[in-house]
Amino acid sequence: MSPSLRIAGPILRDIPMRTNQVPKSSSSARSIRTSDWWRSAAMSIRTRPPDRLGLGFERERVPERATNRSDDMGRLNGKVALVTGAARGQGRSHAVRMAEEGADIIALDICQDIESNKYALSRSSDLAETAKLVEAFDRRIVTFQADVREPREIRDAIAQGIAQLGQLDIVVANAGICPLGAGPVQAFADVIDVNLNGVINTIHAALPHLRAGASIIATGSVAAFLTGTTDNPASGPGGAGYSFAKRTVAAFINDLALALAPYSIRANAVHPTNCNTPMLQSEPMYAIFRPDLEHPTREDAEVAFPAMNSMPVGYVEPVDISNAIVYLASDEARYVTGQQLRIDAGAVIKARPFDKP
Ligand SMILES: NC(=O)c1ccc[n+]([C@@H]2O[C@H](COP(=O)([O-])OP(=O)(O)OC[C@H]3O[C@@H](n4cnc5c(N)ncnc54)[C@H](O)[C@@H]3O)[C@@H](O)[C@H]2O)c1
Repeated sequence: MSPSLRIAGPILRDIPMRTNQVPKSSSSARSIRTSDWWRSAAMSIRTRPPDRLGLGFERERVPERATNRSDDMGRLNGKVALVTGAARGQGRSHAVRMAEEGADIIALDICQDIESNKYALSRSSDLAETAKLVEAFDRRIVTFQADVREPREIRDAIAQGIAQLGQLDIVVANAGICPLGAGPVQAFADVIDVNLNGVINTIHAALPHLRAGASIIATGSVAAFLTGTTDNPASGPGGAGYSFAKRTVAAFINDLALALAPYSIRANAVHPTNCNTPMLQSEPMYAIFRPDLEHPTREDAEVAFPAMNSMPVGYVEPVDISNAIVYLASDEARYVTGQQLRIDAGAVIKARPFDKP
């Protein structure tokens, strides 16, 4: 495990998060957000640039506002967040989006492949890029190459992160793999080790450091609620393990929330539908969406992705999940706990009849 502390610099950086799923004609789209609302709601309401919401605008530069933080209170100011799987995809987006809202970041990622998982995982250069993107928001970040399957590595990372950043307020247990396809059977064990045990390891390692007001968020999947997705026989033992892990993460968060509620520590899960990350944009995933083709490409799969959702998109963007993470992490959600928040473009309502709440 190799720790490094990075202190933020004032450089503007590109943020590679945008979507092309909503037509650019959505120019009227605007979002009002509250900033530090419990102190000064009326003063803080303002309009966000639409490109920051991932609504199809092309702008890629970090706006000047981001480096001028003195008069700009973020929704996570003064908080420190741990993010696993932070080198790329949703984890990177969560780290960057939380930094944008004022949080300092402890970022952890394996930065190497797992054999049964048939697409490449991150590299240390990816984690370094996350660090640069966080620094562009004038926040501090400590990065660790560590494996969520190894409790000691997570404990060490957290201890060193807290030694440098002072505290821990937010835990985002996001790291995951998706080893779809025929065999090896080892894929079943590996995906449960990472996607379930890794989530539990992360949260258990963090618990001794959390105080009243802390927020835990685990990444599940709509696979927790649906049959015939990753648990489809074509998805193999890794797919079956993926569904089991995500269902069990949902149950774990439910019971954890109950256990932590008396201490005013919250626990919630987010459940994405297809999300535009390297996990989705991978050959094993293309093969699941296009079983009719021998070597389907991204283009082939793009046609099939929307079948998952009831809204007319093939996938959501990482920032769509990150916006939910920011809310759940913030004091705006101070009494929100035990939630299973689906960010799924209507995937579950399409496939499942309404259950009594
Ligand atoms: N992409 C989707 O369509 C989708 C849909 C639903 C849920 N999810 C879930 O979202 C989460 C994030 O995935 P993503 O879409 O960003 O994929 P991704 O592959 O882009 O990112 C996952 C990150 O986790 C890291 N990682 C994997 N194993 C690790 C380990 N043992 N220890 C530490 N880090 C590890 C990888 O190196 C990678 O950086 C996962 O839990 C995934 O199951 C993804």
